[in-house]
Amino acid sequence: MKEELEKKVADAIRDPKNVGEMPDADSVGTVGNSECGEMLRMWVKYKEQDGEKIIDKASFQSFGCETAIAVASLATELIKGKTADEAIQLKPEELSGELGPLPPMKIHCAELVQGALRSALSPQTEEQKKESTAQPGNELSPTLQDSLNEGQSQSGDGLKIKFLDEPN
Ligand code: FES
Repeated sequence: MKEELEKKVADAIRDPKNVGEMPDADSVGTVGNSECGEMLRMWVKYKEQDGEKIIDKASFQSFGCETAIAVASLATELIKGKTADEAIQLKPEELSGELGPLPPMKIHCAELVQGALRSALSPQTEEQKKESTAQPGNELSPTLQDSLNEGQSQSGDGLKIKFLDEPN
């Protein structure tokens, strides 16, 4: 069982889909898990189809948790063609569906993906939009690592990273 999951995760991360910044994204969401230190950022771009706004594409960056990468890779494929409302309702076990049931200690990895997705699919502030639509190389388009460094070097008004276990 454990070996089977490890093999599926290994297969998924050998060729992860949709990794990297999306300079022309419509929205971006970043979440972190303070327990394991993992952070995940997701970008989403919409398109109009039959009078409906649906997800055209999504991408992600992660610090390296293999399960989170595998789930994020699957999730960015799974949500294509869905509306934001449909995608926001996906549960962690649906996002990680192809991997099969995750062991208890890995469930938070899928929850991290769900959190980043929900953050990206939620209404954006102007500042967040500016960040997601900036051009590569521009300081307004930070990578995940840049953002973390910025958040650490500034007190108070650096990047706002939502940690999933923070009380609302
Ligand atoms: Fe924390 Fe995977 S170990 S996100």
